[in-house]
Amino acid sequence: MGFSIHWIWFAALLCLHYMGGEVWCDCTDNDMQIEGGHYTLTKNLTIGTMLVYNCPEGYYPYPTLTRLCQLDSRWRPAPKRFLPQRCRLVECPDPNVLENGNVSPPQERYFVRNETTYECYSGYKLRGSAKRTCGFNAKWTGSTPICSRDAGDVCADPGIPAGATRSGNVFDIGDKVKYICNGNLLLVGSKERMCLENGQWTGIEPACYYRHTYDTPMEVSKAFGGSIKDSLTTYEPTDDTQEGRKIRISKDGTLNIYIGVDISESITEEHFKDAKHAVKSLITKISSFAVTPNYDIRFFSSEIFKVVSILDFLDGTDTLSSLKTKMDNFTIDTKNTAGTDLNLVFETFLEQMALIKQRAQDGFKEHRHVIIIFTDGAYNMGGSPSPTVAKIKNMVYMNHTSAGHIQPREDYLDIYVFAIGAEIYDDDLKPLVVGTGGQHYFRMKNEIGHLENTFDNIIDADEVVGLCGLHNATTAGKDKDVAKRKYPWVVFIIVQNGGLRKCLGSLVTPEFILTAAHCFKFDDLPEHVQVEIEDGVYTNKKVKKFTLHPDYNVNAKVNDGVKEFYDYDVALIELEDYVRISYLVRPICIPCTLETSDALRLPRGSKCKDQEDLLLKTHSEKLSFLTKTEPLVAEKIVYAKRGDSRDECISHVLTAQGITTKNPKDAVTDNFLCTGGRTPQRDHIACTGDSGGAVFKDYDYRTIQIALVSWGTKNLCDGGGMVESDATSRDFHLNLFRVVPFLKSILGNEEQEDYAPLKFLD
Ligand SMILES: *[C@@H]1O[C@H](CO)[C@@H](O)[C@H](O)[C@H]1NC(C)=O
Ligand SMILES: *[C@@H]1O[C@H](CO)[C@@H](O)[C@H](O)[C@H]1NC(C)=O
Ligand SMILES: *[C@@H]1O[C@H](CO)[C@@H](O)[C@H](O)[C@H]1NC(C)=O
Ligand SMILES: *[C@@H]1O[C@H](CO)[C@@H](O)[C@H](O)[C@H]1NC(C)=O
Ligand SMILES: *[C@@H]1O[C@H](CO)[C@@H](O)[C@H](O)[C@H]1NC(C)=O
Repeated sequence: MGFSIHWIWFAALLCLHYMGGEVWCDCTDNDMQIEGGHYTLTKNLTIGTMLVYNCPEGYYPYPTLTRLCQLDSRWRPAPKRFLPQRCRLVECPDPNVLENGNVSPPQERYFVRNETTYECYSGYKLRGSAKRTCGFNAKWTGSTPICSRDAGDVCADPGIPAGATRSGNVFDIGDKVKYICNGNLLLVGSKERMCLENGQWTGIEPACYYRHTYDTPMEVSKAFGGSIKDSLTTYEPTDDTQEGRKIRISKDGTLNIYIGVDISESITEEHFKDAKHAVKSLITKISSFAVTPNYDIRFFSSEIFKVVSILDFLDGTDTLSSLKTKMDNFTIDTKNTAGTDLNLVFETFLEQMALIKQRAQDGFKEHRHVIIIFTDGAYNMGGSPSPTVAKIKNMVYMNHTSAGHIQPREDYLDIYVFAIGAEIYDDDLKPLVVGTGGQHYFRMKNEIGHLENTFDNIIDADEVVGLCGLHNATTAGKDKDVAKRKYPWVVFIIVQNGGLRKCLGSLVTPEFILTAAHCFKFDDLPEHVQVEIEDGVYTNKKVKKFTLHPDYNVNAKVNDGVKEFYDYDVALIELEDYVRISYLVRPICIPCTLETSDALRLPRGSKCKDQEDLLLKTHSEKLSFLTKTEPLVAEKIVYAKRGDSRDECISHVLTAQGITTKNPKDAVTDNFLCTGGRTPQRDHIACTGDSGGAVFKDYDYRTIQIALVSWGTKNLCDGGGMVESDATSRDFHLNLFRVVPFLKSILGNEEQEDYAPLKFLD
């Protein structure tokens, strides 16, 4: 063609580089403009540079996203004069695939911001969104609308995603549906799904993607968070055959996480830093879950750069904290990164697995593996990774032949691919994804900086329930929300019976609140008690009942020189209705439960005593409790005087009103922790309204309640607030480790069906 001849001739005039006697030429930037947008070059105009087109939001580069400067100094794909490069309006896949209903307005094509509404024919019921908008990322908002009527099938009609065609119209056990995407749209998700006995479809709903379709950070957080949390939650080994399928890492099992980050293209210092931050943020997030995985982390281009190897983890040479330092310290010579060998990173992981297997022997079958790869999928060395992935599967599946459709060991391997780059090679990447139960392939916009936020958000997903004490201590946002995220378990209690008494409490399960017994008087009834928790349903929760510790008796020692005796000052309030858990409302961890062991990363089989030894180690243990103040609460810091310092601490009780005994231990039994005074540090002191609140300690991302605020020698502050102790004032907090049988009798009660019991340790 005339055009390309002209092109060669023109390029020859610009030959600048002489290498080994040959003439190497740069590409030129003539006629490379894009109408409505701009372009960037990864390596100026030298051979191997990539030209990346950029368009404003709501537009995408057409006909091509990128061009590469070839050895012959030509761009590929070559620009075509009759098809000038321009920014085109984003389009969404055709929604006119709805069966048994109408889509309006009917259009040939649908563009960004176009709205559609969905209506079913009479006799059919709509599930999914009745209204959808075409988004900037070329996806419809909401969920697939489905018009169906009850035909007595076991599974519900799975619908047809926009842009797709489905075959299969019967939805009984064992029936399959298959999907293809129309035109040259790319199918992401399951192309085949089967109806299971439990009424669920296998796999995940497919979606049809254009080359300009991407997943927003929000979508990735949600889908990846939902998918990976199954790998990160531990389960007691049980016979798990119900529910069709199960992803379980048993508590005896080991989780190995392999992370590979492609740093070959456009590798600037900035990009590399972003990638490091993203991986670090992912690891930090994972560490707030119950399991403690081993990590293998590699950056790769034409070669492999090791951050940490999994064997060092298994040896105990590396730990989570040394890993974080290694990530921070990690640098590479960025000059030497021409070429990409995607297969090499999979081969490296396969080698590591083989070594683990050699060591673990039979135990290898309890190992679960999660591989996470960040790449654009463009490789020019090492060949396709598919054969290596097949070997990895074989190793983990242990050559189990899949009977029918479900591979018996498929829960033991997940490969996630985060496709990220200016141009994504989906055809090469999609077959590398392995795993069931949730999305594993993510197609992201070309900004690795987004990833950090994406991973930061995966845990905020409200559906990550059941993790006690999880909190978020970032100070960004409105004051009140900052406090709620940091102390999502704090509860305000008001008892109104004659007078008005205010206490604090802590949410310990979605149904129960822990507080002090002295907040109640003998004639109080549940209807006198108001519990304030803002979970988005009702702020004032109705109380079903409250139970005081059976040994609590304030008058027990009136004749022994203790006018008011607060031993066993603990009570549990049961709510009528459970609280909705979110990142703003979540239970605190309490002593001697299995969950708390997980939060503290104690090994399986550890005992209640191990938790106490870990949490109350020193003779001056730093603890916190809260006081009500604007906009919500403030944290008071105290030191529990234990061991040799305890006697001095509790001796001050003899100066308290109503105490005439000469023996401090008559009033302050071993069930109390003692704080206050001005040495070794100035402690805060409890005010009247602080009673019943949690005395707690933060451990990584988790908060553990150790005691509760009970009573003190002086009343230095009636109105509440952040008040410091004087030299002689002391507070006594009921140590929860001393009342575990009471907690267990209610919270761990397995002979009732009103709530899920907590599991207590010996
Ligand atoms: C591109 O050219 C500019 C200006 O000549 C130079 O400063 C820069 O280092 C070059 N970048 C690369 C990646 O070669
Ligand atoms: C759909 O979007 C296109 C492009 O913005 C616009 O011209 C058209 O009017 C929209 N159609 C409807 C029904 O809003
Ligand atoms: C990381 O770097 C710091 C300072 O540069 C050094 O003190 C430390 O030993 C390094 N840590 C590791 C694990 O290499
Ligand atoms: C699986 O099969 C391959 C090839 O058939 C064989 O080399 C390998 O040893 C087998 N692995 C196991 C765990 O049986
Ligand atoms: C904490 O919450 C803030 C604000 O909602 C959010 O931006 C941040 O990513 C969260 N951080 C963590 C570690 O969850």
